[in-house]
Formats: sequence, C-alpha cells, structure tokens
Amino acid sequence: MFRNDLYKGKRFLITGGGTGLGRVMMERFVELGADCVICGRRGGVLEETAREVMAKHPGRRVDTFTVDIRVATAVEEMIEAIWQGGPLDGLINNAAGNFVSQTKDLSPRAFDAIANIVLHGTFYMTNACGKRWIAEGRKASVLSILTTWVWTGSPFVVPSAMSKAGVAVMTQSLAVEWGRYGIRLNAIAPGPFPTEGAWARLNPKGDSDDRYRSRNPMGRVGKMSELANMAAFLMSEEVEYINGEVVAIDGGMGIMGHGTFSNMLSRTEDDWRQMREAIQATNAADRAKRG
Ligand code: HXC
Repeated sequence: MFRNDLYKGKRFLITGGGTGLGRVMMERFVELGADCVICGRRGGVLEETAREVMAKHPGRRVDTFTVDIRVATAVEEMIEAIWQGGPLDGLINNAAGNFVSQTKDLSPRAFDAIANIVLHGTFYMTNACGKRWIAEGRKASVLSILTTWVWTGSPFVVPSAMSKAGVAVMTQSLAVEWGRYGIRLNAIAPGPFPTEGAWARLNPKGDSDDRYRSRNPMGRVGKMSELANMAAFLMSEEVEYINGEVVAIDGGMGIMGHGTFSNMLSRTEDDWRQMREAIQATNAADRAKRG
C-alpha cells in the first residue's frame, strides 16, 4: 500500500514536525504524496526543515506555523489560518514535553510544564480540527504519539505518563463520539526511539543504549523508519476500519517484564539441559513413590 500516490491530494498537520520523530513522519507522508503543515515553537527550525524537504520532493508543499500549543487561543488562531489555505485531512499529535525526575522533587509548575503540552495542548489541537471537520462533513484521521507507559505507568516520568494516558482515553472516547462523522482516532505507543530532543531529557547523562538492548526481546532500539511506516499505515484510508486503537511499536519491550520467566532469556543451552534433567529426575522420583 506504500505507493507514492497513497496520500495524493491529502494535507496533514504534524505538531512538533520540525525535528525528531515528527519530522521523520512528515517526510514519509510527503514521500507518499501528501502536502504537510508543521508547527512548533521554533520558527527558524520549522522553516529550515520545510525548505529541505520541499527541495528533496519537488511539487510537494510543506507550510510552517510558529505556535505554542499550550495556549488555546494561539492554537485556534493557527488552525483558522491553516484552514484559510485549505482544509486538513489529518492531524498528527506528536509535540510533547518530558524530563526524568524523582516525582517528590516536582513543583506544581514542573507538572504543568508537561501536562500543559501533552494533555491540554493535544486536546486543543484535536478539538480545533475536529469541530471544523464535523461542520464541513469532512472525513479525517487523527494520530497521537504516546508511549507504552499509558498501560503500565512509569516511574520518574509521572506527568508524562499521566498526560499521555489521558490522550489514550481521548483517542478511545472520540473514536466513538466522532466515528459517525467519518473521523477516526488512533495512537502509536513507541518504545525507545532515540532522538536528540527526547534523549537530552530522558537520558541526560548519555548512558549507553545497551540498557535497552538487554531489556528488549529484539535486542535493539527502534528505527525511525519503522515508526514512520507505522504512522503512514495507520493514517491511510486503506485501513479505515482501524479506529480507537493504541498500537505499540517497541519490539515487545512493554510486555517483556510481565512474563514471570522473562528473566530466563539469558540462560544457556547447557542451563536448559540441566534444568530439564532436574525436572525429569523429580518426575521419576514422584512416579517411583506412586509405585
Ligand atoms: C525537575 C524541572 C526539570 C527537571 C524543569 N523543571 N526541568 N523540575 N527536574 N529536570 C521545572 C522547572 O524548575 C520549573 O518549575 C518548571 O519545570 C518549568 O520549567 P521551564 O524550564 O520553565 O519549562 P518550559 O520552558 O515550559 O519547558 C518545558 C519543558 C521543556 C517540557 C520543561 O523541556 C520542553 O519544552 N521540552 C520540549 C521537548 C521535549 O521535552 N521533548 C521530549 C519529549 S519525549 P519551577 O517551580 O522551578 O518554576 C516524550 C516521551 C518519549 O514525550 C518516550 C520515550 C520512551
């Protein structure tokens, strides 16, 4: 389905689309024929990204808007201005804020710094687009970038985990409320995808990514292209019946700790032979006792 006209005639808005995962997803949509709008707080970064991507893909348009999604009135003004240039067909809620910290050290302002971006900003964006789609009777798709902590929680990133869990519930709620208008909402829950912006705040001491290798069934971190392909898949009308889903892309890391015996992955063939012999000896002794 990833033919280069998959998104011909479509126009998507990606929040935080100037860098990191947002930029990679935007480039994938452009490769597949979409025109995109990217927004963020740093106008210069957005403009440079747009210039580079348009130079690589002649004929495609990437528009930029400088906005702080924490400010509801600014979001409304931006969406109105975008619509003046033509309606959107999709929204990718990618912009986020996060840092690792012991929760006991967080001030109310620190909590708000994250929640205002992730929970409030995502809602402002989604509703500003949604009400226009509903008024116009226009089909559309919303994709939000979450994390696997929406199911498990996570220590040391509590404001992010709480806020992203809220967006997961928004996804399910609006999938049902807006499905009748042809608007569907899904989300991706990525595992570790190292980007400069996230890693500066989540891995500030620059620890090696080896810790993800040993704690991941696939023994590695995610590749940006894998996330971009997942986004391109979920946004497509070819899979329109997918609605209200939060799909993990983490190599199985999120469920690894759940299995009681996951820690036995490091056992050698020799260990397994010895365990098998010990179990068989126990079984033989039981049989002998039963006569
Ligand atoms: C404790 C901290 C802190 C820290 C800031 N604060 N950093 N407290 N530990 N490390 C406190 C400050 O002291 C202040 O509270 C309050 O938070 C607001 O700080 P500001 O610096 O004024 O915040 P602001 O300028 O609004 O910046 C927001 C931000 C910033 C979130 C803190 O980092 C940002 O804009 N980030 C955007 C990009 C980003 O974070 N990307 C990573 C996304 S990764 P007081 O009370 O002192 O005033 C992600 C999930 C990835 O979302 C999943 C991977 C597996």
